[in-house]
Amino acid sequence: MGRLDGKVALITGGARGQGAAEGKLFRAEGAEVYLTDVLVDEGIETAAKIGATFIEHDVTDSDAWTAIVKRIENEHAHLDVLINNAGIFHMMGMADTERELWDRTIAINQTGVFLGLQAVAAIMTRQKSGSIINISSIAGLRGSGGAFAYGASKWAVRGMTKSAAQELSPHGIRVNSIHPGIIETAMVDEFSRKGINENVRQQIPMGHYADASEVANLALFLASDESTYCSGSEFVVDGGMTA
Ligand SMILES: NC(=O)c1ccc[n+]([C@@H]2O[C@H](COP(=O)([O-])OP(=O)(O)OC[C@H]3O[C@@H](n4cnc5c(N)ncnc54)[C@H](O)[C@@H]3O)[C@@H](O)[C@H]2O)c1
Repeated sequence: MGRLDGKVALITGGARGQGAAEGKLFRAEGAEVYLTDVLVDEGIETAAKIGATFIEHDVTDSDAWTAIVKRIENEHAHLDVLINNAGIFHMMGMADTERELWDRTIAINQTGVFLGLQAVAAIMTRQKSGSIINISSIAGLRGSGGAFAYGASKWAVRGMTKSAAQELSPHGIRVNSIHPGIIETAMVDEFSRKGINENVRQQIPMGHYADASEVANLALFLASDESTYCSGSEFVVDGGMTA
C-alpha cells in the first residue's frame, strides 16, 4: 500500500531537480501526479519516465493556474496536494540587484506561490481537505546577503505560508513550508559559476550537499496523512546548516 494512494498532486517546477524527485516518489507511493514547468522538453521527458502528466505552465500566469486546476478537477474530481516548488536563484547583493532581477525573482518565487495558493483554495475548501507545501529555503530563515531578491522572496513564502495556514486550516487544509539547505540540483550551478562551492560546503555541518530525494522524503510526509496536525510550520532540511 502506498502512502499517497488515491491522492492527486500538482507540483510546479517539476521538470527537473527537487520537483522531479518529489513527483517520482509520489508516483511510487500511489499518487496521480501533475508536473508543470516552463521547461517543456525536460518536463515531457521527466513525466514520461515516472508516469506523471506534464503541463506547460509559467507560475506567474494566473489564468493558466485556473485552467490547470479546472482540468485536474475534471479528470479526478479532487486535488489533494500542491507543491509550490518552482523558483529561480541568482547570487546578487542588494546594492547590485537591478530592478529587472528583483521583479522577476519576486514574480516567480513569491507571486507564483500566492497564485498557487489562490488557485487551489476553492477546490480544497469544497472537499474539506488538502495539503499545500511551499518550498522556501534556509534563505527564508536568516539573512542571505549574497542573494538579496531571492532571500526576500523566500521570507515572503514563509510568511504567506503562516497567513494561509490561519485562513485555510479551519477548512481542513494544511499549509506548511519546507526550507532546504543546499540541494544538488541545477540551481546550485550558480555556486560553481561564482567559484564558492568549497566555501559553501564548509558551512554545512554534514559536509555535503543533499540529494533532491532527501527533500522529497520530507515532502512525502507533509503530503501524506501522517502529518494531519501540521499546519503553518517550517520544516528544515539542511544538514545542520542553520543549527
Ligand atoms: N537547490 C537548492 O540548493 C535549493 C535550496 C533551497 C531552496 N530551493 C528551492 O527549491 C525549489 C526547487 O529548486 P531546485 O533546487 O529543484 O532547482 P531547479 O532549478 O532544478 O528547479 C527549479 C524549477 O523551476 C522551474 N521554473 C523556473 N521558473 C519557472 C516559472 N516561471 N514557472 C514554472 N516553472 C519555473 C525551472 O524550470 C526548474 O525546472 C526552488 O523553489 C528553489 O528556490 C533550492
